[in-house]
Amino acid sequence: METYNIAIDGPAGAGKSTIARLVARALGFIYVDTGAMYRAVTWKVLQEDRLPIQESVVADVARGMNIELIPHAEGQHVLVDGVDVTKLIRSTTITNHVSEIAAMGEVRSILVARQKQMAAGKGVVMDGRDIGTKVIPDAEVKIYLTASVSQRAERRFKEMQSSGDDSVTLEQLQQDIKRRDQMDQEREISPLVRAHDALLLDSTLMTVPEVVDTILGLCRDKV
Ligand code: C5P
Repeated sequence: METYNIAIDGPAGAGKSTIARLVARALGFIYVDTGAMYRAVTWKVLQEDRLPIQESVVADVARGMNIELIPHAEGQHVLVDGVDVTKLIRSTTITNHVSEIAAMGEVRSILVARQKQMAAGKGVVMDGRDIGTKVIPDAEVKIYLTASVSQRAERRFKEMQSSGDDSVTLEQLQQDIKRRDQMDQEREISPLVRAHDALLLDSTLMTVPEVVDTILGLCRDKV
């Protein structure tokens, strides 16, 4: 069977990782969550107490660290220099700093080069903000997945509640999502935009299986 790549981009909390993981599982592809790589760099920088954050310092940290994304049934484990940071990189502190770090050109070149390598062998479902525009612009299937801000905040709120995390209110989540969307869309380097050839999927009124089926249908048509 011919293998191909699938790029899924979109704003914060649009459900990209859930969808990408399920699509990858259905096709036997490798799922790569690139947001986790920016989060891992942010974790390492904060861990080493390298504040205030300077681009050259962050780039050195990014260059010198080993990030492993290990697929498993629930998504992927993230290891930084052998340390499992899967849960740690989802903290509010990391979420608050990650877009600042992701706006740094040098950091992006380092991570994008690694992401391109991961996609070189095909058979990858990669999600992020610049996958269809910069990382794999030649991906055979490209999706821009979005949903209304209130829907995205509500979904994340429910997720956090069900895992026993009541540290943030729905209102705070909405503000966080808006702030990150704005930073990601307005940054100079590789801002979040829909690739001209990406299918726009608004999942506000769609269930997860409906979104997955739509993407699998597109894969059947295109490839
Ligand atoms: O996908 P997730 O919300 O975990 O991504 C965290 C942050 O990493 C995003 O808000 C964005 O600033 C950055 N990011 C990026 N490019 C990607 C993936 C994530 O700039 N390809």
